Amino acid sequence: MTDYDDLFAETAPDGSVFAEKRALDPLRPPETIRGRDEHQHAIAELLNGVTEGYLPPTVTIHGPPGTGKTVTTRRVCQEFAARHDDVAVEYVNLKECRSLFSAAREIHLELTGETVGAYEGLDGAFAGIWAALDEYPEWTVLLLDEIDHIKQDANYDPSEFLYRLLRGEGKLKRDIQLSAWLISNELLEVDLRLDSRVESAMSDEAVFFGPYQHSDLERVVGPQLDAAFRDETLPAAVREYGISEAARRWGDARKTLRLFRRAGEAATERELPAVTRECIDANLEATDAEDVKQKLLNLPFNHFMVIASTTLGKDEDTGEIYQPVTTNQIAMRMQSDDLPEDVHLSDRAIREVIRDLLTMGLVETWIESRGRDGRVKQIETTFDPQWIRDILGRYLQNTPHLELETLLNDK
Ligand SMILES: Nc1ncnc2c1ncn2[C@@H]1O[C@H](COP(=O)(O)OP(=O)(O)O)[C@@H](O)[C@H]1O
Ligand SMILES: [Mg+2]
Repeated sequence: MTDYDDLFAETAPDGSVFAEKRALDPLRPPETIRGRDEHQHAIAELLNGVTEGYLPPTVTIHGPPGTGKTVTTRRVCQEFAARHDDVAVEYVNLKECRSLFSAAREIHLELTGETVGAYEGLDGAFAGIWAALDEYPEWTVLLLDEIDHIKQDANYDPSEFLYRLLRGEGKLKRDIQLSAWLISNELLEVDLRLDSRVESAMSDEAVFFGPYQHSDLERVVGPQLDAAFRDETLPAAVREYGISEAARRWGDARKTLRLFRRAGEAATERELPAVTRECIDANLEATDAEDVKQKLLNLPFNHFMVIASTTLGKDEDTGEIYQPVTTNQIAMRMQSDDLPEDVHLSDRAIREVIRDLLTMGLVETWIESRGRDGRVKQIETTFDPQWIRDILGRYLQNTPHLELETLLNDK
């Protein structure tokens, strides 16, 4: 039996550096949007089109994560709708949508409060969407967040989905004024491979959110830091150091908040009276490792195998992984008899995968002249190769190739 008095007393934070830790929660909408004046202005200008009887059929809001796309766009649109009876704003996050049908179903749910059954299909979902919008105020702004998460799936094509949303028969027939705002961390045309039919139905209205520079980041997270920490527990020099590192590495407000939360937790854990530079450093490293590992876990199988095969040579004594490696070494490993036949890759496929990994920033390559042997391409990961070994088991768990873990670990 647990003694709960003891349990809670043991786990109660004492000497915490935090005054109000939840101020660092990136999921809490900020009271005010700080900075981003130009962006708010651009969005307001687009919305004000309704006073002249026009909203663009699409608006693309894009830029890297944590740059205020969601909070800024939502806030300005909501404030506008609150002042205009003929404008409605609806927000749908498509992050968890695994298929285009589930995306349509989410939109349907937001507009009607009702779920469409699987048997009604995409047609049913869209019929419901148009019927609902028919009852809406004259103008509807539909914010579709994280739209880059809807990918080509077996049953539907993203172009088909967007085409229906923009040019659907039910919409045209009812003369529905819908402005779809597509919020994404990527460039949509590239990532979703939209066809020309959709591209010509989209307007070129776009607002780009760039990474936060040092002074922006200070303005954005400053008030949250002030609220979160007790007096004196976040010294000015440490705060300044954390913000400049965050700006230099990421320009991402969400990650910056997480950095300071973890640095504060580290300080409390080590029973320090205040956050130190070391607390920041430890968490910078941990944050980067986590991000890279997440990227690795999301790689397609062939890409993962190729990058994993760059970690197979090790110093027997120190356990240090030998890098750089050559394309030939990778090929030997990817075509080795130890591996099942069906995961072997041709030289050409390997070269293509390496090119992709380069674009993703996961590897660096260069050519070395080796006299008689000619020129040899060298490949190295841009991060500690041990991070790949750390997640090998986790990656392979989701593949039908679980046995590879033992194979790769034997090397
Ligand atoms: N301009 C800003 N003003 C206030 N808080 C911001 C601002 N930009 C970002 N934030 C904070 O960072 C978090 C992430 O911002 P968000 O808009 O979700 O980024 P994105 O959608 O670009 O990934 C927000 O929840 C908020 O706490
Ligand atoms: Mg967002």
